[in-house]
Amino acid sequence: MQSRPHPGAGIEITGVDLRQLDESTFTRIRELFDRHGLLFFRGQELSEEDHIAFAQRFGSINVNRFFEKNADYPEIAMVRKEPGDRINIGGGWHTDHSYDEEPALGSILVARELPTTGGDTWFVSMYDAFESLPAPVRRKLRTMRARHSSKHVFGSRAKVLRWLTQSQHQSYNAEAADAMDDPVHPAVIEHPLSGREALYVNPGFTVGFEGWSLVRSIPFLAYLYWNAVRPARVAKFRWEPGSVAFWDNRCTWHYARNDYPGERRVMYRITLDGCALRPARA
Ligand code: SIN
Repeated sequence: MQSRPHPGAGIEITGVDLRQLDESTFTRIRELFDRHGLLFFRGQELSEEDHIAFAQRFGSINVNRFFEKNADYPEIAMVRKEPGDRINIGGGWHTDHSYDEEPALGSILVARELPTTGGDTWFVSMYDAFESLPAPVRRKLRTMRARHSSKHVFGSRAKVLRWLTQSQHQSYNAEAADAMDDPVHPAVIEHPLSGREALYVNPGFTVGFEGWSLVRSIPFLAYLYWNAVRPARVAKFRWEPGSVAFWDNRCTWHYARNDYPGERRVMYRITLDGCALRPARA
């Protein structure tokens, strides 16, 4: 097994077959995942069962309540854009499941059908995003919490956008989003696996800081977001047949590029259960 840093963020791993990992290779992969939270693999030939088996070595599977499920394997969420769709799933910077009380650990995404060009996924590290902030901002953030919600993305209000863009099959179960309590998480977490501090707000699901009005929250969030996605920190992952990306939702964001109009892109995603998040020590 060989590993090397991917430009921007993450680690690219080659020379492994994820279908048959011996214990010591698995341990090395797990250590890299725990430390970096973002792994890329090439040249894999994972069946649906292999995908599920690999995921289960890291924890229990979280069956997504909003996405279309694979017809034969409900553990696998379909991340699908059809030629007529105007919008895609994940087409903006976000981290999955921050709207849950116990946000998901991470996701393992496998390329199944790719457009002729485009369709990359971009990633950034929330360790880097936090560490690159000025010390007074870091100190302030360690004392703050932020609210997260799924309603504007998966709830009934968002149905209108999906209808207008003819992308109704990309999301289901709006009632569940409408009924969810919007949780509050620390703005800086102590990462459950690495123990490092990570910024934990994101443009997709964070709706403001606890005790702050929206008007007060927006400029500070905008500053944090601008800093997080500075070009040198963005990993632009180019998908090829056999590519797999495995990210930790607690220390990365991702952004599925929507730059392949009129083409189909199908990815299979398995998400792993996570845990409640602890604040960084102030
Ligand atoms: C997602 O947000 O999980 C989708 C990522 C992708 O399709 O590249």
